[in-house]
Amino acid sequence: ENGPQSIMRAGHELAAKLYHHVLTLTEEGKAGREYIAERGFTKEQIEHFQIGFAPDRWDALTTILSKRQFPLDIMAQASLLGTRQQDGGHFDRFRQRLMFPIWDGQGNVIAFGGRTVSGEQPKYLNSSESPIFQKGRTLYGLHLARPTMRKESTAVLFEGYVDVIAAWGAGVRNGIATLGTALTEEQARLLRRNAETVILCYDSDQAGTDAAFRSAGLLEEAGCFVKVAQMPDGLDPDDYIRTYGAERFQSNVIGASLTMMAFKMRYLRQGKNLQHEADRMRYIEEVLTEISTLQRAVERDHYLRQLADEFSLSLEALKQEQIQIYRSRR
Ligand code: GTP
Ligand code: MN
Ligand code: MN
Ligand code: MN
Ligand code: MN
Repeated sequence: ENGPQSIMRAGHELAAKLYHHVLTLTEEGKAGREYIAERGFTKEQIEHFQIGFAPDRWDALTTILSKRQFPLDIMAQASLLGTRQQDGGHFDRFRQRLMFPIWDGQGNVIAFGGRTVSGEQPKYLNSSESPIFQKGRTLYGLHLARPTMRKESTAVLFEGYVDVIAAWGAGVRNGIATLGTALTEEQARLLRRNAETVILCYDSDQAGTDAAFRSAGLLEEAGCFVKVAQMPDGLDPDDYIRTYGAERFQSNVIGASLTMMAFKMRYLRQGKNLQHEADRMRYIEEVLTEISTLQRAVERDHYLRQLADEFSLSLEALKQEQIQIYRSRR
């Protein structure tokens, strides 16, 4: 097939080869290698994820595509090249950036994420959407993670593709990421087809926590069992691995991830002093409200008992209280 879409895929394949070659084997790749060394990515990570570097030139990719007789306007539509206003000529869109190929589910390169190595804005320049690339349908690293996802029936969902790469280096082989946008229904369904359990491992900041609540809802809707990983404030998975190492990431973060209800309970405790009666009563009320949203009776029973135990309350009293909550909802 020789339609524009297959030409776009072939152009991306060639670009990925060029960028990877520049990073690993050329003088022009030095700035990229220095940045890689600073971040601590290994050769294995560079190879597995085919990381590359776009040189600091306007015509590196353009020249190669043109020599190989790729139609440059189609390459521009696929957002690999830019188009000059004045004369309609083309230029490299990605320059002096560390390049992360983004693949479709079959492992074809369909887009790139480019991270600045020199502090330029934006920090990440991502390919625009194109006929071969729709952000909301793509999960970074899916084709690489799929065998482990299926075997363990578990996926670990990250916020950034560098987190997927860092986690892979730490032995977590079932990581994928969205591409800088909120999880979509379509991505949730795509995940559910490959794994039953999804562990959310977002950045430990307010944005990450908000995103976790939002994604959890969509994933549960799609039929996934959702867990949430916890990290110390302000860290993202890549930071955590660099600070505490692979073993602690596996055992204290991924291995210790919380069920959604446990995560909500921890969240509701924040800013409350449970020694104080007013806070305690408010907490119990809020947890009861959460428990009453659970679909399964055995689950509701489990958490009601847990709550009763923790605060030395009778199960009977909690059930009465819950009936009030159900009534007030109608
Ligand atoms: P590092 O700073 O390199 O460690 O990356 P990070 O993954 O920690 O970045 P961050 O948590 O800020 O963002 C997570 C994801 O959001 C990234 O993988 C990108 O997809 C996206 N993102 C972040 N910054 C930008 C930006 O400036 N522009 C765009 N388009 N996307 C961004
Ligand atoms: Mn190589
Ligand atoms: Mn973030
Ligand atoms: Mn981050
Ligand atoms: Mn980071």
